[in-house]
Amino acid sequence: MKPLTLIGFMGVGKTTVGKALSQKLGKPLIDTDQEIVKYEGRSIPEIFADSGEAYFRKVESSILEDQMDKDLIISTGGGIVTNERSREYLKNFFHNFWLDASLEVVEKRISDDEERPLWKVKREARIELFNKRRKLYEAVADHRISVDHLEVNELVEEISKLYL
Ligand code: S3P
Repeated sequence: MKPLTLIGFMGVGKTTVGKALSQKLGKPLIDTDQEIVKYEGRSIPEIFADSGEAYFRKVESSILEDQMDKDLIISTGGGIVTNERSREYLKNFFHNFWLDASLEVVEKRISDDEERPLWKVKREARIELFNKRRKLYEAVADHRISVDHLEVNELVEEISKLYL
């Protein structure tokens, strides 16, 4: 069985849904952001500021590569799909669930978050990022789950049914 990944934009609930799914399916959860922070010994804003986004993406991709043949659930960072190598890994070795939220819901959930460097930009840039990313999620997703009107337990039910 391929590992189950949750992909999607910042703030769609990947970590929350990942935790609930991990309980329901009795499989361990790996959060790529947490793994990066652990491996690097510094926060995400520090990594972005001192080493840049390209470096962050490289570490993110190696962490994904390490999970390839494991029986677990992976909650990914929203930008993982911007890296070509990561997209190839996702497409070939993972079962990908795209948690898709509307821009309005994302904006309500994350407002001005200091922990997300790529959200600390003008609104027009946020919208552009949101739209650009949707195409990338779509390119690797095995399933798209619209999250705006579903509770966490409903999302978990739906994902479990599709993860056969
Ligand atoms: C990012 C999303 C973040 C984190 C980093 C970059 C992005 O993860 O990986 O700030 O480029 O969308 P979340 O999706 O968990 O916020």
